[in-house]
Amino acid sequence: MADTSQKIAHGLERPKITQREPMHDTYLRFDDPIPDASELALEDLNIVDPEIWRRGAYWDRFKRMRDEAPLHWTPDSFVGPFWSVTRYEDIMKIDIDHKRFSSSWEHGGIVLGEPMEDFELPMFIAMDEPRHAEQRKTVQPAVAPNMLKVFEPIIRERTQDLLDSLPTNEPFDWVDTVSIELTTMMLATLFDFPFEDRRKLTRWSDVSTNRENPDICPGGEAQWREELLECLTTFMGLFQKKQAEPLRNDLISLLAHGEKTRDMQPQELLGNIILLIVGGNDTTRNSMSASIYGLNKFPEEYAKLKANPDLIPNMVSEVIRWQTPLAFMRRTALEDVEMHGKTIKKGDQLAMWYASGNRDERFWNEDPNRLIVDRDQARNHLSFGFGIHRCVGNRLGELQLRILWEEIMKRFEHIEVLEEPALTSGAFVKGYTWMPVICHPKT
Ligand code: HEM
Repeated sequence: MADTSQKIAHGLERPKITQREPMHDTYLRFDDPIPDASELALEDLNIVDPEIWRRGAYWDRFKRMRDEAPLHWTPDSFVGPFWSVTRYEDIMKIDIDHKRFSSSWEHGGIVLGEPMEDFELPMFIAMDEPRHAEQRKTVQPAVAPNMLKVFEPIIRERTQDLLDSLPTNEPFDWVDTVSIELTTMMLATLFDFPFEDRRKLTRWSDVSTNRENPDICPGGEAQWREELLECLTTFMGLFQKKQAEPLRNDLISLLAHGEKTRDMQPQELLGNIILLIVGGNDTTRNSMSASIYGLNKFPEEYAKLKANPDLIPNMVSEVIRWQTPLAFMRRTALEDVEMHGKTIKKGDQLAMWYASGNRDERFWNEDPNRLIVDRDQARNHLSFGFGIHRCVGNRLGELQLRILWEEIMKRFEHIEVLEEPALTSGAFVKGYTWMPVICHPKT
C-alpha cells in the first residue's frame, strides 16, 4: 500500500488515504486522471464510482445527464443496474409518489445495491406505510418544537464553550475539532447516551456507511459486522435500561416504550439506531464544514453575511442546498412507470440525485453552483427530501447550524480555510473528512 500522506504548510498533515482497487473493472484506478464528462459516452458516466466522489469530480457528469439523459440508465455497476433521476422537478415527482416508488428494505431500501441477506437492517426510513408512519410517529416527539426549545440553550452553551476553547491564529482541523464534536454531543443528548463515550457514536456512524472504504474499515466486511454488532450490544443494554425506567423524551426511551417499537427485533433496533446516528450526525456535521468551506470559496458572500447577520437563517438553508449532505436516496419501482419516453420497469432501482436537483439550472433562477447567502429560493432545496420520508430532524439540523454561526459571528473576524479539504469517498454521504483552518478573532 502506498503511503499517500502529504505534509502541508502550516504544520498540519493531510490524512492518509489508503490506495485501493477500483470497485468495478470500468472504474478509475486510484489517483488516475479524471476525464471530462464530455469525453465519455453517456452510458459510461459511472456516477457511483467512489473515486470521483473522493475527488469531487461529479458536477459535469450530472450536468450532462440533466441536459442529455434526464432519466439515465447505468446498465452495469458495482451496485447493479440502476436509473438516475437528475432534474429537480422529476426528483420531486418521484419523492412524493410513494405508492409507486418504494423505500422498503424488502425491495432493497434507500441505498443502491442489494442488501446482505444475512445482515438485514430494517429501519423506518426504509419502510413503506403503514409501518413507516407508526415508527416515525414514535420518535417524532424527541425532535418536536417543544424539545427544540429545550435543546436550544444546551446547544448554545456547548457551542460557546467549544468556540471559546479553539486555538486562535493557529491551524487546526475544523472537521474533527468542531463539526464532529458538536454533532456528536447533540447525538449523545438525543440518545441520553453516556457522554464520555460519545465518540463511539461518531465511529459507528462512520463505519455504517463505509463498509468498502479501507480508510475506515481496513478489515472489510468482517470488521464492519463486528463493529455494528458491538453497537447493537451497547444499544440493547441502553434499550433494556430505558424500558425498566419511566418514559422520557430521549430517542431510546421513546423507542423502548413505544407501542409499535418496544418489541423490535435486535436487527430492527440496530437499523433504527443507525438511521438516527447517521441522520443526526453525518448530515449536520458535513453542513457545518460546508458552511465554512463555502463562505471561503465565495468571499463576497462571507462579506454579505458579516454586514448583515440577519441573513444567517437563509444562509443555513443555502448551505444545506449547496452541500446536499446526502447525495441521493434510492427508490424501487412497484409498477412500470413511463418517464422521458423510457420505461422504469417494476422492480428497477433508481437514484433520486438530490445533489443534482439542487444544481438544476431549470429550477434555480440564480446560478445554482454558487453559494448565495440571500438566495430567495434557498428553502426550496431538496436536501431533506419530500413526501412522507421528509427528514424528521430538519429543524434540529438547522438550529445547530444557526447557533453555530450566531456564535461564530460574535467571536471571529474570519475563519480561514488553508487548504482544499479532504472529501468522503462514496456517493451517498457527501462530505468532508478534514479541513485545516485558522480562526482570526475579532479585535
Ligand atoms: C442538514 C441536516 C440533515 C439532512 C441534509 C438530512 C437529510 C435527510 C434526507 C435526505 C432524508 C430522507 C428523505 C426522503 O427519503 O425523502 C432524511 C430522513 C431522516 N432524517 Fe435527516 N437530515 C438531516 C438532519 C437530521 C437530523 C439532525 C436527524 C436527527 C434526528 C435526522 C433524522 C432523520 C430521520 C429519522 C429520517 C427518516 C425519516 C422518515 O423516513 O420518515 N436528520 N434526512
